[in-house]
Amino acid sequence: MAASARIESLIARMTVEEKVGQLGVFADMVRPFAPDVNPEANVRNADEVLAQVRAGRVGSLFNGVGAELGRRIQQVAVEESRLGIPVALAADVIHGMRTVFPIPLGEAASFEPALAERTARATAVEATAAGLHWTYAPAVDIARDQRWGRGAEGAGEDVVLGCAFAAARVRGFQGDDLTAHDALLATPKHFAAYGAVAAGMEYASVDIAPQTLRDVHLPPFQAAFAAGAISVMSAFNDINGVPASANRGLLTGILREEWGFDGVVISDYTADMELVAHGYAEDDRDATKKAFLAGLDLSMQSGFYAAHLPALVESGEVPMAALDEGVRRMLVLKERIGLLDDPYRSLDPEREADTGHLADHEALARDAARRSIVLLKNDDAVLPLKKREQRIALVGPFARDRENIEGCWTLFGDRSRYEPLEDGVRAALGEAAASLVVVPGCDLEAPVEGGIEAAVAAARDADVVVLALGEPQRYSGEAQSRIDIGLPPAQEALAEAVAATGTPVVVVLRNGRALALTGAVRDAQAILVTWYLGTRTGSAVADVLFGDYNPSARLPVSFPQATGQQPYFYNHPRTGRPELPTMSEFKARWREIPNEPLYPFGYGLSYTRFEYDAPRLGTTRLGWDDTLEIVTTVRNVGDVDGEEVVQLYIHDRVASRVRPVRELKAFEKVAIAAGGEVEVRFALHRDALAFTDADGVRRAEPGLFDLWVCANAKSGEPVSFELLASGVSAAP
Ligand code: GLC
Repeated sequence: MAASARIESLIARMTVEEKVGQLGVFADMVRPFAPDVNPEANVRNADEVLAQVRAGRVGSLFNGVGAELGRRIQQVAVEESRLGIPVALAADVIHGMRTVFPIPLGEAASFEPALAERTARATAVEATAAGLHWTYAPAVDIARDQRWGRGAEGAGEDVVLGCAFAAARVRGFQGDDLTAHDALLATPKHFAAYGAVAAGMEYASVDIAPQTLRDVHLPPFQAAFAAGAISVMSAFNDINGVPASANRGLLTGILREEWGFDGVVISDYTADMELVAHGYAEDDRDATKKAFLAGLDLSMQSGFYAAHLPALVESGEVPMAALDEGVRRMLVLKERIGLLDDPYRSLDPEREADTGHLADHEALARDAARRSIVLLKNDDAVLPLKKREQRIALVGPFARDRENIEGCWTLFGDRSRYEPLEDGVRAALGEAAASLVVVPGCDLEAPVEGGIEAAVAAARDADVVVLALGEPQRYSGEAQSRIDIGLPPAQEALAEAVAATGTPVVVVLRNGRALALTGAVRDAQAILVTWYLGTRTGSAVADVLFGDYNPSARLPVSFPQATGQQPYFYNHPRTGRPELPTMSEFKARWREIPNEPLYPFGYGLSYTRFEYDAPRLGTTRLGWDDTLEIVTTVRNVGDVDGEEVVQLYIHDRVASRVRPVRELKAFEKVAIAAGGEVEVRFALHRDALAFTDADGVRRAEPGLFDLWVCANAKSGEPVSFELLASGVSAAP
């Protein structure tokens, strides 16, 4: 890579220790985000870190915030170290900073990438005001097994949806100018296939076909890079026996040689150290050598590069040129985010103190939250609720909860501004709130003395029960794989008792993954999926409960019938024995259930209804180099305005590798007034029909395709078209 003269001049003057220093990333103990915990240790640690910065041994610090102390760090780096190279200040700012937005999986349910771009932008404004240059986000892992806890951080099970949100979040975080004071460098993670861990178990091995790696798990990274990402974080897992963080085929072969990526690869936390535990490295020195030579530029937290790279260079096992190339990439990154020209950018205490953006960000948080809520069921139109003349009992451990508002990976949220469900419902009811009865009924995971009795009594006296249930937020995120993706038994017992009163029940779920719903929860009259919605949870849920917002989100992950179905995903192959309407014996299913979801990918209801005309194709014989025009009219046949997520799926009937029963290829969310209709247009080129074949070549194959334009992965009637071989005229 060619770098600027000043970078080459710096490299020429750097000692080996200073070069290695630029590749070291360490926890920011100067700005610990738990400053009140063990203050003496913090001061000692801060002095040690500042000494390392002064010695030119630190390239970047992470997970500290604060503009004032950030300036102190930068002052030591720029004015007290020998070469004055600024430090890049990073953090895990995943879905909000002080103002917290829905978890990424929740935002993906909106099927509005533009919304995610806006919340990422607002997050960047707040994060850079708090003295940060860089976030370790977006997580772009495709998660097909809901037992895994980190699906909460991504965009669900589908690659097209995943690509759209990966790109949107990168654009939002980074803005139009990476050197701007409010530009937050993005880092798509975890490279790669972390969402494919065996059995959904955290950190487990990934045994994956190269074609699945390329067609499902790699595209969101390509989308992130195309959107401007210039750094990427390596994953903990191995891929077919080679740990991702020392996988030369991945980090150099694919990333650099095939894709031409010229940015920086940063390890996940001690992922280089873990090569020894993987059984891939003999010892720390061997781990360092294997990671660095595979293409891992930066080492996070292990200290291995500082400890072993100088000797490896001295011995010639690591060429100096390779070390220089890693340093060059990191210095170019610092130059591209403006630090070499303005080391104190984003370190302005006055800007940090400015709360002028909070009102806008809270309004955005409320809108993003309500647009992420999925209505799964609404029997007898029990929703929307009335604000008058309706006795409402708000029951369940999440009625008043404030501790499980933010969702996983929220390190810096301003908890004083979190709005519990009850507060939102009371605000919506206004004076009528006096009649609202609130009964927790049980704890998150345990019964409480008299809780069920109180809940039953409240249910009996109510016209409707809003039952606020779900997963404690610690059930999702890192190292939170579950063997059972149901609700805690104490909550299920509460639901059964409340349902037995016969009062209609509206379940409001709080969840970080698709759940296996059972019993009274599954059979409730209405079900809302609300994920973790962040700062404005209460108002957002109330907006939907009372119809002030017509729910428009759709499932980014299939809700299974049972945990035992995992991994379940809509775009699965047919198998040689697909279940038939007329025959289920000796077919691809379970003894207890068909291999069908309880609620499919892309599914969600509205307070109105939409009807689709059959899609009209520009042709049924698509020339090899032509584009297929598709038009559909969608009607709002109900009596309230609403928004529909129009989804385009295809199925390649016969191919050199069996193809999924359906694949999402495009989607568009459209607002349709009551009684109105809109024409939705899509265009498909053969690139969208391509897949990686048995030889590892990505290509489309001529033949017949089914196509749906519909409301979810299980709805609609297909039309068909033929992709003609190259050179075959499309003329009839
Ligand atoms: C964690 C996570 C990664 C995060 C990093 C730094 O273990 O895997 O997503 O960015 O460490 O906190």
